[in-house]
Amino acid sequence: MSLTHLLDIESLNKESIYRYLSNAQSFLEVSERDIKKVPSLRGKTIINLFLEASTRTRASFEIAGKRLSADTINISGSTSSTTKGETLLDTARSLEAMNPDVLVVRHSESGSARFLANYLKTTAVANAGDGMHEHPTQALLDCLSLQQHFGDAGIEGKTIAIVGDVRHSRVARSNIWAHLKIGNRVRLVGPPTLIPPEFAATRSFGGGVEICHNLHEGLEGADIVMCLRIQLERMKDHFIPSLQEYTNEYFVSEKLISRVAPDAVVMHPGPINRGVEVESALIDGPRSLVSRQVTNGVAVRMAVLFELATSVRRSEEVKES
Ligand code: CP
Repeated sequence: MSLTHLLDIESLNKESIYRYLSNAQSFLEVSERDIKKVPSLRGKTIINLFLEASTRTRASFEIAGKRLSADTINISGSTSSTTKGETLLDTARSLEAMNPDVLVVRHSESGSARFLANYLKTTAVANAGDGMHEHPTQALLDCLSLQQHFGDAGIEGKTIAIVGDVRHSRVARSNIWAHLKIGNRVRLVGPPTLIPPEFAATRSFGGGVEICHNLHEGLEGADIVMCLRIQLERMKDHFIPSLQEYTNEYFVSEKLISRVAPDAVVMHPGPINRGVEVESALIDGPRSLVSRQVTNGVAVRMAVLFELATSVRRSEEVKES
């Protein structure tokens, strides 16, 4: 059995990142047709196992599977037998016994996607967000949105400022890896308690990461500003005095961006807490890529499902080839 998983961006090289982006680019037009369907994955089965809340990722993985003509089913935490004490591995093995081609997994534990990939024998695993570790399809859709914005200039040689609760953000980790591999300067901007210790400790991790605790300095000259939500649900300790005090120091507004990074685009993976980490008008304004990010999620997930599902070669096929 030959299988390709998508578990993180860290283990991808630059060529693989660009291959996913190029394939996603070619799937974009399917969503613009009257009949939004191609037969690419007819006869394939995809299971979306979402054991943590999601709106965008879950809906777009389901839509992506359906637009590729795969048989797609969804299982959520509240309706799965994990609520009766079944382990994640037993759940995944039971699903694998039904011969799916791809298992899309969202889980609150960091490393859960790789854990399952290590045990499953015939099912490719797509990480739809594992705890604070990675959210690889989010970074890919973010890069696709940037490719569309920068056009022929390309997305290399840019400065991205990632602002907010980087510590608890899998989106930030996947984007840090993606932008380092592409060759961009990455600035992590936020209070010391919300910058991951592994980055803060070295200050030059990967050769391209800067740490900045002052918002004005962090945004200065940035081409891309990625705002992040404060993830109170992952905070077991007190990382900030209060949301109001965080907002006082790190609120990203149009007035500030137009002064220190006038050409910057603004991104946010969602969900957004308008008025807490970012100004509502900025999210709805002309420099925002937020809506495009969501649209591109479908094409990116089509590309990922296509690559993973077509990597699954059953033993008979392997023998024949
Ligand atoms: N960006 C993102 O992962 O959003 P959801 O949690 O709604 O899927």
